[in-house]
Amino acid sequence: MRTLTKSNAHFKKAAKKLPLGVSSNFRYWGDDETIYIDHAKGARIWDIDGNEYVDYRLGYGPAILGYQDKRVDDAAIEGMKVGGVFALGTKRELTVAERISKMVPAAELVRFSNSGTEAVMAALRLARAFTGKDSYVVIEGGYHGLFDAVLWQTEIEEWDGGPEDPPLRSYGGGVPQMLKKLIHSVPLNDANRLEETLKKHHSNIGALLIEPIMGNCCSLTADKKYLHDVRSLCDKYGVVMIIDEVKTGFRVARGGVQELFNVKADLCTFAKAIGNGYPISVLAGRADIMGNIGDGVAHGGTYTAHSVSLAAAEKTLEILDETDALANIAQYGTRLQAGLSEILNQKGVPHSFTGHPSMGGMFFSEEPPTNYRDWIRTDYTIYDTMAPHLHDRGLLVEPDSREPWFICEAHDDACLATTLEAFEEGFKITLDHLARSNGTTKGVKS
Ligand SMILES: Cc1ncc(COP(=O)(O)O)c(C=O)c1O
Repeated sequence: MRTLTKSNAHFKKAAKKLPLGVSSNFRYWGDDETIYIDHAKGARIWDIDGNEYVDYRLGYGPAILGYQDKRVDDAAIEGMKVGGVFALGTKRELTVAERISKMVPAAELVRFSNSGTEAVMAALRLARAFTGKDSYVVIEGGYHGLFDAVLWQTEIEEWDGGPEDPPLRSYGGGVPQMLKKLIHSVPLNDANRLEETLKKHHSNIGALLIEPIMGNCCSLTADKKYLHDVRSLCDKYGVVMIIDEVKTGFRVARGGVQELFNVKADLCTFAKAIGNGYPISVLAGRADIMGNIGDGVAHGGTYTAHSVSLAAAEKTLEILDETDALANIAQYGTRLQAGLSEILNQKGVPHSFTGHPSMGGMFFSEEPPTNYRDWIRTDYTIYDTMAPHLHDRGLLVEPDSREPWFICEAHDDACLATTLEAFEEGFKITLDHLARSNGTTKGVKS
């Protein structure tokens, strides 16, 4: 059985120097559950106690080819020899930008940043500058990074299901409450509701931010017709449609979610998969909007287009564009879901998957929810109970069911076999656990 003796001891020391003992709040899983990583290779990750896991978190998505991919790391080493950053441009920026435009037709012009947060922040600024309107629409349950304008969440657990909208609250302290006035939060897959909002407020609304496969909300997925309605409504009401592809970009298809849904954003943002883990992000979009950068809209930063990340991105994109990597990733995801289904069906447990096989969400209900309001009606206690049992058996999944399972090119047959065996055992223990604690396993036969 897994022990976390070293992680627990390290946590006690780390918490004296680093708030919560980590460098991102999401990495704190509890005083006794926080894991510290020793190293990762391929699709596997080892913690400092020597526990080995098949990793389905992949750092929230970046390691699309797997950890320590030699092709990318060799390119990054070449990038190191370029020298870092110079507060000047390099030729490779154009090469990578051209590849992005080839893969994503909406990306007429391209700018690099370091993180998804920075790219989305710049997109919102640009949309406001272009339209002259400061308010914006977000989708309930969405996450777009760690800047004040988007650090607002729909408190679905506090909602009584009545006609009033669920409350919108800032993620913790320090977010100016006055910003709330600028946000309109609407449920996914409800075009009528969006139109009502735009009809009433379009004179102030400059942007709409959407992640059509909600990578921070169990991969809840926009209906294709809905997404095309969103596109038309943005055109009708003079709103810049920002498709946030920080998680879906260069993952769900070469051209991201825009290719899957055959829709074109005005602006789109990418990060994660683009550099296989090296920090780089992209803001891209329509030339007439992007052209405002340099014509009064600020964008830049000391580390943008760092030579190491840029070289890694060049190689990662080449692989994703020119090999079957993405098809293989999707195929593994499909096989994984089929294997999990078989186990759950044997136990008579209703379940469903959402999103894309490369980043699938898992539900213990016959049908997946269509928006975040429906999510609250699903029984996520099974998932929450199951996750630690899977960790104990060598499967690293997010403890919160709102994070999908990410697949990389390095997930192979051996990973799949390990996963299914561990899942079967972990799920059996989960059911025993729930039965003992008289859990709310709605619909579970045994
Ligand atoms: C859709 C989306 N947008 C933006 C971000 C923020 O990206 P980063 O964590 O790189 O700042 C994330 C992070 O998970 C994301 O999933």
